[in-house]
Amino acid sequence: MASSVIAIDGPAASGKSTMARMLAERLNIPYINTGSLYRAIAWKALKLGIPCKDAARIADMLETTRVRYAVPPEGGNPDIEIDGAFPGALLRTQEVAQGASDVATLPLVRRFTLDIQRDAAKRQLVVMEGRDIGTAIFPDAAHKFFLTATPEARAKRRLSQGGETPDGATVASVAAEIAERDRQDSERAVAPLKRADDAIFIDNSGLSIEETLQLLLKHVKGNES
Ligand code: CDP
Repeated sequence: MASSVIAIDGPAASGKSTMARMLAERLNIPYINTGSLYRAIAWKALKLGIPCKDAARIADMLETTRVRYAVPPEGGNPDIEIDGAFPGALLRTQEVAQGASDVATLPLVRRFTLDIQRDAAKRQLVVMEGRDIGTAIFPDAAHKFFLTATPEARAKRRLSQGGETPDGATVASVAAEIAERDRQDSERAVAPLKRADDAIFIDNSGLSIEETLQLLLKHVKGNES
């Protein structure tokens, strides 16, 4: 039997989070953002002054780190709880995003995050978004999508989100930062960012949010009947 997961993978700022959240809302099921898991590990390391690619020190840190998905006190989708706290918006900075991409290259980190992600989908159908959900975490997911957009469209989206870009950032500078993170994510040895052979490929550069959502819904509902 297929895993009860709708997997949405794709590069940075490709619209995965927006789509995953809206799709989950329409289907009335939880949405799990797996980038937050890597971001939370990077956030803690940065706070402790540990370089995000230092495998030995990150391993030590994880020995005493408790991370899980839990519904925050204000309710809503399950979010990352790390050492008893919900860092939430503190994870959405460019520094943490780059740190996340760095810790995500470490095999020990991917081993650490595997069960946390699998546990999050144990109880019911969920929408799970990331880089390797349809390839490494749930290769037998019920539905798989690979969402992308042109580098320019993605840079514009990230700029319009505010917060996660430095003051004075331009489309070109944000596109360069995103391209560098995508390169590291695609070239790493373990669980690289890549489209699963059986994932539905959607380039949403020229599509509205609603049009993209309708495409996803059509596939999910179509496969059910
Ligand atoms: O929001 P954005 O697409 O920019 O990033 P994110 O989904 O929050 O992911 C941050 C970083 O975590 C990515 O650049 C990846 O290196 C890493 N990541 C991963 O390796 N595997 C996942 N399933 C999710 C994120």
